[in-house]
Amino acid sequence: MRRDRAGVLGLCSAMPASQPIVIATGNPHKVEELRAILGGLGVPCIGLRELESTRSTTFIEPEEHGSTFETNAAIKALSYAQQTGLACLADDSGLEIDALGGRPGVISSHYCTDGRETGMTRAERDAANNARVLGELQGVPLERRGARFVCVMVLANPSGVLLRVRGTFEGRIGELGEVPRGSHGFGYDPIFLVAPEYLQTSAELAQEDKNRLSHRGAAARALAAALEERSLRG
Ligand code: IMP
Repeated sequence: MRRDRAGVLGLCSAMPASQPIVIATGNPHKVEELRAILGGLGVPCIGLRELESTRSTTFIEPEEHGSTFETNAAIKALSYAQQTGLACLADDSGLEIDALGGRPGVISSHYCTDGRETGMTRAERDAANNARVLGELQGVPLERRGARFVCVMVLANPSGVLLRVRGTFEGRIGELGEVPRGSHGFGYDPIFLVAPEYLQTSAELAQEDKNRLSHRGAAARALAAALEERSLRG
């Protein structure tokens, strides 16, 4: 098995083996999580903020105007790849609820304002998003409360998309009174009951358990497998 850096990277056309993959997010938690997984494959990684300070520059954050997670992740990966000249990995994630036809989907972080940016803090937004979802699901029976967190990761170089993977985390939205519950995590975690038992919300999971089960963990593992497969084929 070739796990060497050149083997993994050399298969992605126009990705020079000596250059790192840029984890194109300002979220330090995501940078560390992905660096640990990709580092295990011998793929060097650098966070966007780290690259900005190395180059004494600031990259422009692209507008995410896509209607799917795939489009938004590709917009970010391509934009940063073109700005940095390096291969960039970007992700987009959110919650899909069956009874709401897949909403909040790509507007998950600003569902309470129909996707519009406001001056609200993250904590205020999270509480308002959860209240809106619980209100919209009032009276909806258990069998229609199915939901999943989705994470799409896209790897791109300046000339185009190289790889795209998707991870999901299945559950159901609890009923008002039963949830919100739990103090870990963020976003919709306090109202999301984890499948298949539906006993705990994802805000009640320990961090290691959330990483093991989560959509982000699944997407990161799929990415690592895809890179490894390319290295084996090469
Ligand atoms: P982002 O892709 O990390 O910006 O996530 C978009 C939005 O989806 C977040 O602001 C949350 O509302 C929601 N979301 C994504 N992942 C999670 C999660 O693991 N738990 C709870 N909410 C999440």
